[in-house]
Parts: sequence; structure tokens; C-alpha cells
Amino acid sequence: MKKSIGTEEAIERWDRYADTYSESHAEQGDLHKEVFLNPTLLSLIGKESDKKILDAGCGEGYFSRILAKSGAHVTAVDYSKKMIEIARKRTSPNLSIDYRHGNCEDLNFLENESFDLIVSNMVIQDLANYEKVFKEMYRLLLNNGSFIFSILHPCFITPVSGWEKKDDGEKLHWNVDQYFYEGAYEQRMGGQEKILLFHRTLTSYVNAFLKAGFTLEGLVEPKPSEEMLNKYPTFEEDFRCPDFIVFKLKKR
Ligand SMILES: C[S@@+](CC[C@H](N)C(=O)[O-])C[C@H]1O[C@@H](n2cnc3c(N)ncnc32)[C@H](O)[C@@H]1O
Repeated sequence: MKKSIGTEEAIERWDRYADTYSESHAEQGDLHKEVFLNPTLLSLIGKESDKKILDAGCGEGYFSRILAKSGAHVTAVDYSKKMIEIARKRTSPNLSIDYRHGNCEDLNFLENESFDLIVSNMVIQDLANYEKVFKEMYRLLLNNGSFIFSILHPCFITPVSGWEKKDDGEKLHWNVDQYFYEGAYEQRMGGQEKILLFHRTLTSYVNAFLKAGFTLEGLVEPKPSEEMLNKYPTFEEDFRCPDFIVFKLKKR
């Protein structure tokens, strides 16, 4: 584990991985987003159609496009120039999406209290300074605005976690170790590329957003719906423990 690796290295890796990552994303993102994250995020968002929304860490932009298609005015930020380039190419000009290159830890080109809603889908476990991000999202939200973010579930996805299997491949238990480690670790993403992830405990996440001024309004550990299970039966095993956790925070 490489505790000292930080932002510059993470950006370089996302730039290198951007094409491969984007190939796995279609209109609904990838399979995990279709099954777990999109239904959860959209139900927490509710009817936000004509609102001003920030997509913080937009990647190739599929969720920005979903929001803009429902009538929102979206600003979408990513610190990988390559991701922003791909997102722009994938977006039809009639959608109201302003793609900007920037680091969510410091978005000084955006004014205070500019957004009704901020969404950040699977980004905060990928960045070095999550405390700065919570403060920055708080600054950018209007009073009563919501910040909805999904991350890998820090209680189950740690630097050392995975299935214990029988010799024949049958899955026995999901093992978790190194929960209290806080810092960077690498995850292979298919092929040779390894992206950087940053693990923190659930306590650290919660204390950081409370300290930034947010209140907790909703929490979901997504499970596959019956409709999704009918479509993708292999997700049955996701009833054993959750991969993701989604928070809805409020600025009051
Ligand atoms: C796992 S991808 C998720 C992308 C997109 N939200 C989605 O759901 O497809 C993480 C993205 O966050 C971006 N990212 C990570 N840390 C960032 C930061 N500090 N500021 C801006 N973008 C960041 C990466 O470049 C990458 O595009």
C-alpha cells in the first residue's frame, strides 16, 4: 500500500485509463451503475428537473446526460482532461451541460451558492483530500441544497477484502481486513492499469461532512431490485453484503 501517492499520480492514471473506462459505459453507465447506483441516485434526487446541478467528477458524463435529458442545467467537472474530452464528444449540443476541467477539492472558478443540487457518483473514494471536497461542495450549494454522493462501501471494500472461495470456486464468505487503514491503495482495473483508491473509515467520512456543516438526510446501501434481478440474475449474491453506500446531505 502506498500511503504517500497523491493527486498528480491519480490524475495521470485516470487520463491513461479514460478510454478503457469509457468503453465500459453506455447510456446507463456500466452494469453496476444501471443495477445499483442510478435507481438509488434518481430516487434520492426526486423531481429536480429544471434545477442547476453540479456533477462533481463526471467521468465520461453519462449521469450528466441523464440529468440534462430530464431538464436540468448541468455543470460537469472532472480533473482528467481526457475524460472531459470524451464527455464532450459523447454529448449532443442540445443538452444543457457545461463541461469544465477542475479538481473538486478546489473549484474556485465556480461561485459560492451556485447549485441547487450536487451529485458525485463514485468519485470521493478516488480522491486524496475528501475533507476539502466536503467544504467545497458546501460552499457551492445554495441554502437548503442537497449533496448526494455514492462511494464504495468503506466497511466492506477495504485495501484487503474479497471472497473466500472453495477449491471449486464456490463463494464462502466476503472477507474484510485493514479496515482502519486510511490512505491510498491500488486496484487493478483489467489489463495492466491500476487506479488509485483512498480508503477511510465510515466514521471519518461522517465526521468530515458533519464538520463541513452538512446534515445527513438519507442513506442507502443499494440492493438489486426485483426488476434488475430478473434482468441480471447473477446479482443475487449482492444480497450478501453491499458494495456501495449512498449519502444524501443537506446544507441548512
Ligand atoms: C469512478 S469514475 C466515476 C465517473 C462518473 N461519476 C461516473 O459515475 O461514471 C471517477 C472519476 O472521478 C474523477 N475524479 C477523481 N478525483 C477527482 C477530483 N478530485 N476532481 C475531479 N475529478 C475527480 C476521475 O477523473 C474519474 O473520471
